[in-house]
Amino acid sequence: MAEESGKWVLMVTAQTPTNIAVIKYWGKRDETLILPVNDSISVTLDPDHLCTTTTVAVSPSFDHDRMWLNAKEISLSGGRFQNCLREIRNRACDFEDKEKGIKIEKKDWEKLHLHIASYNNFPTAAGLASSAAGFACLVFALAKLMNAKEDQSQLSAIARQGSGSACRSLFGGFVKWIMGKDEKGSDSLAVQLADEEHWNDLVIVIAVVSSRQKETSSTSGMRESVETSLLLQHRAKEVVPKRIVQMEEAIKNRDFSSFAQLTCADSNQFHAVCLDTSPPIFYMNDTSHRQFSTNMETCFRIISCVEKWNRSEGSPQVAYTFDAGPNAVLIARNKKVAAQLLQRLLFIFPPSSDTDLNSYVIGDKSILHDAG
Ligand code: ADP
Ligand code: DP6
Ligand code: CO
Repeated sequence: MAEESGKWVLMVTAQTPTNIAVIKYWGKRDETLILPVNDSISVTLDPDHLCTTTTVAVSPSFDHDRMWLNAKEISLSGGRFQNCLREIRNRACDFEDKEKGIKIEKKDWEKLHLHIASYNNFPTAAGLASSAAGFACLVFALAKLMNAKEDQSQLSAIARQGSGSACRSLFGGFVKWIMGKDEKGSDSLAVQLADEEHWNDLVIVIAVVSSRQKETSSTSGMRESVETSLLLQHRAKEVVPKRIVQMEEAIKNRDFSSFAQLTCADSNQFHAVCLDTSPPIFYMNDTSHRQFSTNMETCFRIISCVEKWNRSEGSPQVAYTFDAGPNAVLIARNKKVAAQLLQRLLFIFPPSSDTDLNSYVIGDKSILHDAG
């Protein structure tokens, strides 16, 4: 370390978008290492809209590791944070900035403490994959700070230990999380199937039905499903492996009909698994909230609107998918369809209507519409 230690702070800021699964991850075979029971495929959203920004700082004057999430201090004592910090520290390399007189040797990283500040520009823990953007961003920023030489896939296996879905946010475009076979998890990592430019026509619209924190976190929800749902076992063994092959093919060929059909079916099966859990989990609403029925009705009306529209056109125009929360992610086959979709959503749910539906994000770099 530099001689006048204590006088310097070294900082890195990173920004990472969230990702939405079109073939869902739901269920772990190893809780600590976060190893899934099936492969999953997602699309990484546009960083302009839904993303996490994380600054990691290190200084000899910091006396313990601290973290702030959305401006509130949170505890880093949980296993997930500790696992990510340990894995990156193990891979830290020498760092030198001659101008500033900072020299950190590999062994020094163990003793240096971190301050981490993270901000999500979208609802946290509301089913829009904040844990995915959050842990991917944390691992990426730490790796940069500590000069770790790992590639994106190796980093994805570390981010996975923070939150499973996070491994897929290390890449843009379409991403597959390979479940892997190794008991230690060395081969459970993300790979990019197609980059951001591959299927440029698609437009993603997010309808925020409720930005409240969900009642059952993804972690405990999927634990309960693994323990009690037979449908989950069937899904993981019989259904998902076939869907993964079909989805990869649909993405490669930009085949929207197959893509939409698989995406909607997989979202519906994931929510069926939640209902098959004992006690059942309803992610399409918020039972603790007076808007219970309104939220649920909003979700079902969105599904029914898309289903009817797709049938009347003879081929799918829009795909819908809901993660562990009531917010709809709608994928339109092109810009023209996206414009029609927004019109329909605004017609069914005018801004003044008595629903929580309050904003739509068009994930195609340009338009942000907030009707709230
Ligand atoms: P979501 O659907 O938003 O991913 P989860 O229940 O999976 O909800 O995860 C929410 C948890 O993820 C939060 O309680 C927090 O522990 C963690 N998380 C969210 N955002 C961040 C962030 N920016 N950095 C680190 N951890 C985060
Ligand atoms: C429904 O990755 O949030 O969004 O690994 O316990 O942190 P943990 O769970 P998390 O689960 C995401 C579940 C999902 C589907 C998906 O993203 O694949
Ligand atoms: Co999550």
